[in-house]
Amino acid sequence: MKERILFLGPPGAGKGTQAQNLVSKCGLLHLSTGDLLRAEVKAGTSLGQQIAALMVKGELVSDDLVLAIVKHNLEGHTGGWLLDGFPRTINQAKALDTLLAEIHQPIDIVIFLSLNDDLLIERLLNRGRADDHETIIRHRLEIYHSQTAPLIDFYKSKNLLVAIEAKGTVDDIAMNISKVLG
Ligand code: AP5
Repeated sequence: MKERILFLGPPGAGKGTQAQNLVSKCGLLHLSTGDLLRAEVKAGTSLGQQIAALMVKGELVSDDLVLAIVKHNLEGHTGGWLLDGFPRTINQAKALDTLLAEIHQPIDIVIFLSLNDDLLIERLLNRGRADDHETIIRHRLEIYHSQTAPLIDFYKSKNLLVAIEAKGTVDDIAMNISKVLG
């Protein structure tokens, strides 16, 4: 089974939901940059306060900071992993390539969870996290389309990308993910 996995997709596509499912079944390390950043905010450090000011507006946190977080968690880890919400920019993807080459852990597969904007907005409004207000969601989607969506072609050109439509039940989508993991 493929065990170095990257989940790519817009906010609300179900990356976190599917990641939880998969890591509990397969014992992979789950690295969600969103969760790790929210933990830093919760800890109330001065770095956490700076991060909170960006997250609440739906802005991206700096590439350097998220890369440092991912590096800290991946270095020394020997089993499989699932990256969720990272990378989010071409810069982050290139930095990740460099890091993974250094630690000899290439990506096995990039799963792109796709869903149309109307359904994403509906899901996120129902969830109601601090950054799930309509104007902020729309801003997160703009950032996704301009800065993150170019990663689709980036990983396609490396023959790593598999697209899965993130519509339907959580179980159906999980089954489609399992199929492509082998
Ligand atoms: P992050 O936490 O990564 O949020 P996101 O990418 O906006 O993704 P979401 O958590 O909103 O959606 P998801 O795809 O995980 O969907 P979920 O499973 O939760 O990032 C938040 C912020 O952190 C960013 O805006 C940025 O500020 C910062 N950040 C994070 N990473 C960064 C990085 N690399 N660089 C810079 N900044 C970074 O599902 C959503 C809802 O839908 C849930 O309620 C769920 O129950 C429901 N749902 C899921 N699947 C289904 C289904 N099949 N049917 C119906 N409902 C479903």
